[in-house]
Amino acid sequence: MNSNKEAYVIGAGGHAKVVIVTLKEAGYTVKAAFDDDSQKWGKDLLGIPVVGPPSQLESLSDPQAVIALGENTLRKTFAGRFRHVKWLTAVHRTAYVHPTVELGPGTVVFAGAVVQPDARIGSHCIINTCATIDHDCVLKDFVHIAPGVNLAGGVLLEEGVFIGIGSAIIPQASVGGWTVVGAGGVVDGDLAAQLLAVGVPARPIRKRE
Ligand SMILES: CC(C)(COP(=O)(O)OP(=O)(O)OC[C@H]1O[C@@H](n2cnc3c(N)ncnc32)[C@H](O)[C@@H]1OP(=O)(O)O)[C@@H](O)C(=O)NCCC(=O)NCCS
Repeated sequence: MNSNKEAYVIGAGGHAKVVIVTLKEAGYTVKAAFDDDSQKWGKDLLGIPVVGPPSQLESLSDPQAVIALGENTLRKTFAGRFRHVKWLTAVHRTAYVHPTVELGPGTVVFAGAVVQPDARIGSHCIINTCATIDHDCVLKDFVHIAPGVNLAGGVLLEEGVFIGIGSAIIPQASVGGWTVVGAGGVVDGDLAAQLLAVGVPARPIRKRE
């Protein structure tokens, strides 16, 4: 049981608002937000002060934080940069996560999301508002599934995959590392790595760097 209930967030945009709400609903007190955009310093986000750049985390002893940035590559960069931070896992009070589910450090599960038995979710993933992950799915690190995404049983999402809002994936399908599926896509089989795929069914329209 973690008795330290103080948390920080990296990022002060719209996504950070939802992370702050999720941390509060999970019982944490959010002390401050950090952002590289100096225009945000001195302002507040849902009553949480935006105090300066993320580098300020370096002067704190044993800080606990969430990287509140929706962009998967940025979360990976920050996770590698701050090795002394304890990354918090936060589940909104209204989400359902079965006790057999594994959630990695830094992963957030937003309001209304459902994660069914034996799903395994890596580090710094985002399970966005009202997304559902059925039994035995595997999500590797830095995956983001957007609001209202539905994953059937046994789906595999490799590192850094982004699934756009309202998409659906059929049972046992897989998506390769850093591939993006556009909003409303239906993945009906295996998609390779580093693609942008859209449509119903979702088909690649270009390679991603
Ligand atoms: C897929 C996506 C990432 C593509 O963005 P992009 O790289 O800027 O691509 P473009 O807007 O240039 O679109 C390229 C082509 O794909 C089409 N397209 C884009 N998104 C599409 C989608 N979701 N479904 C079907 N076609 C789509 C465009 O109409 C365009 O077609 P054209 O070449 O015939 O004109 C973006 O459209 C998208 O769906 N984002 C989802 C965002 C989201 O879910 N956010 C949630 C945050 S919590």
